[in-house]
Amino acid sequence: MRNFEYYNPVRVIFGAGEINKIGAEAKAFGSKVCIVSYKELNFLSPLITKIKNLLCNEGVEVVTFFDIEENPEIKTIEKGVSFCRAEEVNLIIGVGGGSVMDAAKAIAAGVFYEGDLWNMVYSRHDDVKAVPPTTALPTMMIPTLPATGSEMNQCAVVSNSELKEKSYIWSECIYPKVSIIDPELTLTLPPYQTACAAADTISHVLEIYLNGEEDSDVQHYFQEGVMRTVIDNVEKVLADPQNISARSHLQWAATCAINGWASPGDAWTPIHQVGHVLTSLHKVPHGASLSILMPAWMEVLSERKIKQYYRFATNVMQVDAKEKTQEQVVKEGIKLFKDFLQKIGVPVSLGEAQIAKEHLEEILSGVVKVSFGNDGVLACNPPLNKDDVMNVLENAL
Ligand SMILES: [Fe+2]
Repeated sequence: MRNFEYYNPVRVIFGAGEINKIGAEAKAFGSKVCIVSYKELNFLSPLITKIKNLLCNEGVEVVTFFDIEENPEIKTIEKGVSFCRAEEVNLIIGVGGGSVMDAAKAIAAGVFYEGDLWNMVYSRHDDVKAVPPTTALPTMMIPTLPATGSEMNQCAVVSNSELKEKSYIWSECIYPKVSIIDPELTLTLPPYQTACAAADTISHVLEIYLNGEEDSDVQHYFQEGVMRTVIDNVEKVLADPQNISARSHLQWAATCAINGWASPGDAWTPIHQVGHVLTSLHKVPHGASLSILMPAWMEVLSERKIKQYYRFATNVMQVDAKEKTQEQVVKEGIKLFKDFLQKIGVPVSLGEAQIAKEHLEEILSGVVKVSFGNDGVLACNPPLNKDDVMNVLENAL
């Protein structure tokens, strides 16, 4: 097992109905808060009204910045920073999914950041070295979908459509102070978003399970537990969207998948690096980019880590290995996983996202530009070169 350091200061308040604590929790940080949420807000209006009332009841002044788009743009972050500086707020509350929570974190850090905010973002877009922020306003997260895990980590993904890039800010200063994770807030999440969220959660542990350190027993059992939890519960939710028990399991799985518990010592996310390019160039939703790439990735690369893929097949996809060769078991495991993704309604090919062979070179260039290291490979275990990534993309067509 690799050596690691672990630090996570987020106070989590989890459970149905816990949103009612938001007023008292926010008040502890000061008298004025900014709620950050989506530009298209209709579906969240009742919740926002409820939150405003809960805050007002505690004497907290509320201002709002409802300008966040899917895959938040650095220009939007700049607007939010100007707004929060002018309003002199004490706390930023993100109400929404990953885009909103990441934007709330980026704005919180941007308030104290000097210079070009894009320099906070890790990226290989130019010769400017990223300078992570070191100070941020306190943030509180109210996730409304179970996917990104942003409510309990130190990462914020930001896009720059001018540069056609999507990358991330990584700093301890953007850990939320408090996250109220209330699964009741996900009861109205539509089926497609629920399925995309499930694919995203699985990817957060699967890619470390397959591409990380082999000698990581606790991590691997933990990752398997997260994957089984999602597989068991997403179909229950799709059959009965009001199933609060299954919604709760999905929500907590999403948080645990990417708060560091499942992956200390392993931080590589190569499938996400490719997925981000599908999103920035072709507007593929995040979860869908991963559901497309995961099976294609596994089909191409399974031979390199055959034992781990065998373990995935038997422990996660519950393949009966009796009287089958190792290769047969691995193949069956990948097929069952692909079938599962199709069954829950997410895409498993680039064609379903209107991406064709002639687009692949540009996608590969984007991955190389943003995510390849100076050593000419995409970091993971084992590392991938350009041909490997192209093989995966071609297999995903
Ligand atoms: Fe993700």
